[in-house]
Amino acid sequence: MHKKLLIIISITLLTLMSNLLFANDMDGKKIAFDRKKGNCLACHVMDDGDMAGNIGPPLIVMKARFPDREALKAQIWDATTKNSISIMPPFGKHQILSDAEIEKLLDYLYTL
Ligand code: HEC
Repeated sequence: MHKKLLIIISITLLTLMSNLLFANDMDGKKIAFDRKKGNCLACHVMDDGDMAGNIGPPLIVMKARFPDREALKAQIWDATTKNSISIMPPFGKHQILSDAEIEKLLDYLYTL
């Protein structure tokens, strides 16, 4: 009886720990594709993402088009600074994504 309980507790703890590890380990692509994070695919064609929207421009050849990382970061942080009526969510300003998540996202965008 005790043994069973111990096993259940161990499994629960392991699951919790792996969830934590996984969350911290989310890479830029996951952040971009995850509906609860970037959800960039709702509006942008990018990479191998399925069923992408075309409300925003396709995110391609990013290095050539955005040689300045700060400019690209500014677009993601708050798109309304460039276009006051932008419908792109201000990911940084509204704390939809953390600074660390935006940095990972930028690393990923520069692979496109
Ligand atoms: C609700 C729709 C929407 C979502 C979600 C969205 N965007 Fe946008 N995005 C736009 C629109 C519209 C534009 C065109 C410029 C503007 O209006 O701000 C744009 C422009 C951009 C640009 C400039 C592209 C260029 O070619 O000039 C980048 C980079 C960008 N978005 C990245 C992202 C990333 C990364 C995500 C996910 C974290 C994202 N967007 C999520 C709508 C969206």
